[in-house]
Amino acid sequence: MNTFLHPKRVVQALYYGFKWRLKKLLRLPEKPRLPVVSGDLDAALYHHRKIATLVSAHLSDMQMKEGLTGCEIGSGDCLVIADLLLGKGYQKVYLVEKQRIVVNKRQIEILERLRESGLPNKLEAVIAGTSPSLNTEKVTVIPEYFENAVLTDKVDFIFSHDVIEHVEDLKGFFLKCASILSPDGLMVHKFDLSGHEFFEYPIPHLDFQTYSDWLYDLMFPKYRRSCRWFLDEITDAVRSAGFTCIEAITLTSEDADYARKLYPQLRTKARRRTLEQILPMDVLLTARLTRTDLQ
Ligand SMILES: C[S@@+](CC[C@H](N)C(=O)[O-])C[C@H]1O[C@@H](n2cnc3c(N)ncnc32)[C@H](O)[C@@H]1O
Repeated sequence: MNTFLHPKRVVQALYYGFKWRLKKLLRLPEKPRLPVVSGDLDAALYHHRKIATLVSAHLSDMQMKEGLTGCEIGSGDCLVIADLLLGKGYQKVYLVEKQRIVVNKRQIEILERLRESGLPNKLEAVIAGTSPSLNTEKVTVIPEYFENAVLTDKVDFIFSHDVIEHVEDLKGFFLKCASILSPDGLMVHKFDLSGHEFFEYPIPHLDFQTYSDWLYDLMFPKYRRSCRWFLDEITDAVRSAGFTCIEAITLTSEDADYARKLYPQLRTKARRRTLEQILPMDVLLTARLTRTDLQ
């Protein structure tokens, strides 16, 4: 017999989902969110260092030249990549983020601590002082969903961290990546295909895939959710946007025994896939527009 998992969490998600819709309807402004920076400093440092290390590894493979431009999609309150790219010699960085980007003393402290730990950050993305702000001469914020964003330059490096799973228009997203990336540029996306919010740890990672689409849509309004993409849907969208050299490395996978037991309860779209296809959780995807082995 199929059991309905986590009924209390479903009710909670429905409540907050409707509350969010009501606020939108009444045009009440959303409070700026600082999910990473406002919490525990050590946790924030760990998060920033992890992302910076991941990006640094890819930058060292890239040829450095004059006037490079980078783009981070969905930076949230994490400014480490903009600052790292500038520290590495990039001339300009775009941050495409719909939510208001907050800069405060905690941000400056985090960037300083990262610089002290040996990362190439030089605090060029920000202007420190009594009321810190972004250095708009080097960092351009585009407050839009990336698929709708207009960038005036081509960029050499595109990066996102824990964003792809929230992107409603995957096809539009990767077509935009293809349209702005320079021919010898690189894009790097790390994403998390496990349950979010009410359905994240300690809830097992695939339990959120048991709810039917109509119930999930009620719990989580569009543009405020993890979209429940599967890895093959993401790589298909990347390929059809014209990318090549596509590499998807699974960083963490769900436990196969747990997934096998849960399989009969999964929603139809999940059951159309093999067990192996639904196991990847944290994934690092890299792609280019031009095959480097032909150069
Ligand atoms: C989970 S947060 C990750 C923030 C940051 N990258 C980090 O890892 O700390 C996801 C971010 O992606 C942004 N986002 C979601 N969909 C987006 C889209 N289509 N285009 C640009 N940003 C998007 C959200 O506004 C949010 O700030």
